[in-house]
Amino acid sequence: MKLKDTQALTSFDYGWLLKRIFPYIKPFIVKVILGFIIAIPVGLLDGVVSFSLKPYMDYVVGKQDLVMGGFTISYIYIAYAMPFLVIGFAFIQGLLRYLNSYLTDWTSYKITNLVKTDLFSRLVYMDTSFYDENTSGIIINRYLSDPDTASRGIIDQIKTFIISLFGAASLIAVMLYSSWKLAVVGVIVLGVAFVPVALIRKKIKSVSNKNMVIMGDITTTMNETYSGNKVVTAYNLQNRQINNFDRGIKESFNVLISLTKRVGWMSPIMYLIASCGIAFVLFYGTKLIYSGQMTAGSFASFVTSLLLLYKPIKTMGNTLTNIQTIFVALGRVFELFDYVPLIKDTENPTENINLNECILFDNVSFEYNSEKRVLKNINLKINKGETIAIVGNSGGGKSTLVNLIPRFYDVIEGSIKFDNTDIRDFKLKDLRNNISFVFQDNFLFTGTIRDNIMLAKPDATLQDLECAIKAAHLEEVIDSLPNGLDTLLGERGLTLSGGQRQRVAIARAIIRNTPIVILDEATSALDNESEAIVQKALDNLIKNKTVLVIAHRLSTIKNADRIAVINDGELVELGTHDELLSICDGHYKHLYDMQFKNTETVTT
Ligand SMILES: Nc1ncnc2c1ncn2[C@@H]1O[C@H](COP(=O)(O)OP(=O)(O)OP(=O)(O)O)[C@@H](O)[C@H]1O
Ligand SMILES: [Mg+2]
Repeated sequence: MKLKDTQALTSFDYGWLLKRIFPYIKPFIVKVILGFIIAIPVGLLDGVVSFSLKPYMDYVVGKQDLVMGGFTISYIYIAYAMPFLVIGFAFIQGLLRYLNSYLTDWTSYKITNLVKTDLFSRLVYMDTSFYDENTSGIIINRYLSDPDTASRGIIDQIKTFIISLFGAASLIAVMLYSSWKLAVVGVIVLGVAFVPVALIRKKIKSVSNKNMVIMGDITTTMNETYSGNKVVTAYNLQNRQINNFDRGIKESFNVLISLTKRVGWMSPIMYLIASCGIAFVLFYGTKLIYSGQMTAGSFASFVTSLLLLYKPIKTMGNTLTNIQTIFVALGRVFELFDYVPLIKDTENPTENINLNECILFDNVSFEYNSEKRVLKNINLKINKGETIAIVGNSGGGKSTLVNLIPRFYDVIEGSIKFDNTDIRDFKLKDLRNNISFVFQDNFLFTGTIRDNIMLAKPDATLQDLECAIKAAHLEEVIDSLPNGLDTLLGERGLTLSGGQRQRVAIARAIIRNTPIVILDEATSALDNESEAIVQKALDNLIKNKTVLVIAHRLSTIKNADRIAVINDGELVELGTHDELLSICDGHYKHLYDMQFKNTETVTT
């Protein structure tokens, strides 16, 4: 599922898209319709000004009384009433406009929020490989920006379209009333001006998709500048970042300007066609006036309507273009809804997980992609309560092996079983509730230390929390902080040292108190002193648990019940420290001689 490779195939399938977005509009449908209804009079009132020109010219300027059904209204009254009417209509139109904006904004924010929340709640359940494949930038763009463009825009554009449509309709009505012959000419000319709009939608789609990918790259550069700021500074990579950013911005410019090149000529062409219409009307209208078929007032009214008509027509043209962009974004959004995680619950999951005997790797093979098998036919039985240390060459597949247990990825061949049940038959949530994972690089959330520990078990008591802190050897650290447990950590916990961060992660795992513990150790990054403290914390964590530990320290390895050696994806040796050392020319012996022998005195 590469978000970059979107085709947004459904973008022009308007019926399908409207059907998909409808459930999000439905809760607010009354307000949406009310907003659209109010847009009608807002548009219609556009015709009032040009309509009032006719009586103004014919009666007030021509100084003639209006005779209507036996009544005579003096032109003086008309002259006085006119300004008030204009203000009155403007007032009503203003009020309606306000109501209309309020309703359409309110509904479109609500709809957008619903779509975004729904998308986000799918995003958090995506599997690890989804996050491997997609950059943060592209995810942000597709899960945040696209729904913004799409659902917010759609209501706004429909509103604008309705106002313009009825504005145009009222102006055309005035024109028809003034002279139907001239009106027909005017409307035909303006109709022709619309043709180009239909021709450019493919271009809009390809530009929009390309620009989405570029904006994703730009956001990724931003994120990397943030997360990697120390590497950027240490290696003087500022220019590299600037160049990356600049490249994105320039590419985006080229893509967008190519659209302007195509679309930009539409407006002038429409304008040109419209001026031809006006020129013709002037020519023909003069003839009508001179031949007495039309009053000067009707003509003034007509020409004003025709001129005013240009604006709503142009707006409608723009709206149609914008709606194309919106539908492309909408197509991308609803494509996302159809991405389902590959790793999910089976239809009838087995209730309750009770690990009574063992965790079994039964002929397990795995690959991230078809180019390379990362694990090959692994057979390994880890008894309940046993600690297994996993060692082997770097890149050999140790982390991959343990990642399969909480199903970050699923095996390609074979199976992993708890007792006799395939882990794919358990509910994912239950499975993961049975495992505590301490990673090489532990992630802390923005918030307090307390939050970061408690999130593992929100219903833990204060006593649990204190025990976990003690067992994780965090007491001193917390005492030294200005607000103790409630000290706010920087993003990703960067205000703590590496060893402290790791102990917070261990406290998190301790408070969770699960039967299975997985440690992907990275204590090699720590100095001896903090390594020793972390080690004590780990010892507390793994007491009475079934443990898989990817070990880099000899002490952990020696203390483990058994050691599994994984080299280049294969389980090559399995046994106790002494057993494995006694194998002449064995892999473990080799590793021991190379890596651990010299450190024995230091770390044990
Ligand atoms: N997300 C991933 N996508 C594709 N390939 C991956 C991914 N993660 C790891 N690999 C590849 O899988 C192989 C095994 O990696 P793994 O992280 O399991 O090694 P490891 O034994 O834990 O190494 P180390 O001791 O250095 O941590 C490596 O060749 C690595 O390049
Ligand atoms: Mg690893």
